[in-house]
Amino acid sequence: MSGRRPLVAGNWKMNGLKASVAEFGRITAAYDAALRAKVDLLVAPPATLLSTFAVVALGSRVAVGAQDCHSNGAGAHTGEVSAEMIADTGATAVILGHSERRSDHGETDALVRSKVEAAWRAGLTAIVCVGESNAERHAGRALNVVRHQLAGSLPEGITAANMVIAYEPIWAIGTGLTPTIYDIAEMHGEMRKMLVARFGAAAKGVRLLYGGSVKPENAAEILSVADVDGALVGGASLKADTFLPIARAYL
Ligand code: 13P
Repeated sequence: MSGRRPLVAGNWKMNGLKASVAEFGRITAAYDAALRAKVDLLVAPPATLLSTFAVVALGSRVAVGAQDCHSNGAGAHTGEVSAEMIADTGATAVILGHSERRSDHGETDALVRSKVEAAWRAGLTAIVCVGESNAERHAGRALNVVRHQLAGSLPEGITAANMVIAYEPIWAIGTGLTPTIYDIAEMHGEMRKMLVARFGAAAKGVRLLYGGSVKPENAAEILSVADVDGALVGGASLKADTFLPIARAYL
């Protein structure tokens, strides 16, 4: 037993209007005592719904997270949202360095690192995403790419409470493709080794999620892999009917 409590997290990306609050209510209602005993659940809606979701989640023990934050606490940064503002909504976590932010907004490892520091300053758990492209995997560079991203994106001071890491191969996101169980096991094993080498015993408690086309149909197999401590789910997290069965793989 690793002692790590599994986490199934939903990344809603740029999806969700006021009408989606009812669907989130179905998710919180379905997170029953049996699930609560085995697995943590988190949903990261768009920033516009954070406050509403945080209120709906009250009493359910479903955590609410954001999908990005600015590295500064406040100031002249039109259109940005700070970690302090996220914490102020009642959210407790923030996804950082997602591949869509790295590609759409040119986010570098150094910027992701500064955002992790901002998240910690506000008392949020950082969920840092890493993962290789299709070309990088085919060139045999997947492990090196992820090692490099972890080295650059993580500040000193990670703990089981303040950090979650998600391995999301870019080519598996939204495509229906997934790496083999062997490839996931190899990557997660290497990530654990690297984290323990740099951060020592604290890294043993940090949860490593797999993300990329996780569905009810493949969840049990993927979540049974050693050093896979949960999932970061995109499309299938938008509906209680497809999100909850992923968490139920732990029952
Ligand atoms: P999908 O589950 O839709 O492939 O998305 C994965 C993801 O990017 C979660 O952050």
